[in-house]
Amino acid sequence: MNSFIYDIPTRVYFGENQLGHLGKELAGYGRRVLLVYGGGSIKKTGLYNKVVTEIKKAGLELFECSGIEPNPRVTSVNRGADICKKEKIDVLLAVGGGSTIDATKFIGAAAFYEGDAWDIMTEKAPIVNFLPIVTVLTLSATGSEMDAGGVISNIETKDKIGLMHPVLLPKVSFLDPTNTYTVNEYQTACGAADMLNHILEVYFNMNQDLYMLDCVMEGLMKTIIKYAPVAMSDPENYEARANLMWASSWAINGFVDGGKQQAWSCHPMEHEISAYYDITHGLGLAILTPRWLTYTLDETTVSKFYQFGVNVFDIDKNLEPMTVAKKSVEMISEFLFHTLKLQSTLTEIGIDDSNFSIMAKKACEGNVLPGFKPLNQQDIENIFRMCL
Ligand code: NZQ
Ligand code: ZN
Repeated sequence: MNSFIYDIPTRVYFGENQLGHLGKELAGYGRRVLLVYGGGSIKKTGLYNKVVTEIKKAGLELFECSGIEPNPRVTSVNRGADICKKEKIDVLLAVGGGSTIDATKFIGAAAFYEGDAWDIMTEKAPIVNFLPIVTVLTLSATGSEMDAGGVISNIETKDKIGLMHPVLLPKVSFLDPTNTYTVNEYQTACGAADMLNHILEVYFNMNQDLYMLDCVMEGLMKTIIKYAPVAMSDPENYEARANLMWASSWAINGFVDGGKQQAWSCHPMEHEISAYYDITHGLGLAILTPRWLTYTLDETTVSKFYQFGVNVFDIDKNLEPMTVAKKSVEMISEFLFHTLKLQSTLTEIGIDDSNFSIMAKKACEGNVLPGFKPLNQQDIENIFRMCL
């Protein structure tokens, strides 16, 4: 069991009618606020007006950077950073899903860099300073509202790069489940697949760690499996939206990691699919997850699958471990492709094998992905082929 540091200093306002705290939280960091948002969903839902009202009420100066794309582009990060420099912004306010929050994180870092923000993503330029970030989350999925990472795409080079740095942690996040009532069935399903995979990337680990953390992860997974279909069929179900929202934050805020220091597997593979084909992150993960599980199941890993099958899917514990393991993969496929109604193959979404070789090479950076089971380029290509 490894020692670890746990330090997540994001202040969370959870629940309805908390936006009244927004003005004073922003004012704590300065008077010039850059509001960052996506393609306009916040205008349709009325959240934009509510946020602007609070900013004005607090007597703060408002600037805007809109049009952050799903799979946010580095060009948008550069655009936001330019506004920060020109307008001498003090604090950033991200209102949206993971894409908006991720872009805002790197806008805050690029505001202190004179070159292309891509240099920060490729770690050619270190993060030397940053602007504080406040978020209002509108989609439960990535956990960006309470983690220190972000993922940015470069369309020209077909790259999608994730980067973690402690300064990227939001200072404050407003998590009001009612702000997710308008998330459609498909995005709700993709969000559930994403948060479920965040937990699986940590849970599937053969190193001994805290039993308590495995129980927490099993509870989080059961929560997602229980409430995602409720939110899909009854979008304004507060209990379902609230459970999904808090589960998304806790799936990836570092708590469940404990002392486990294991690299992730599905995420680097999925980021290549999104980089080449600009698909929704959660959909790519849904397609990869059961194939990755199947590929990594053998006599050395079966005990973890057995634990997963018995504790998460209530499979009969008296069955043979390998039988339980295989059934657990069937049950997660059933959940992803039937309950969540997500497409189950890359072929269905128009992706063929033409770029698999280069995507596999990039996913493991020409070496090995050192996750649950180490995967080399050929292994990754094999997993991509299983997804056709
Ligand atoms: O852009 P707008 O108009 O706001 O519409 C968005 C977008 O079209 C819409 N939406 C968001 N909230 C809504 C809503 N529509 C109606 N009502 C609402 N309340 O949903 C669409 C998708 O939004 P997006 O922000 O792209 O989704 P998500 O939160 O899933 O973010 C995905 C991005 O996050 C990255 C992914 O790779 C991807 O780029 N990730 C970030 C992580 C992190 N920071 O730690 C970890 C994840 O593993 C992931 O890689
Ligand atoms: Zn993810």
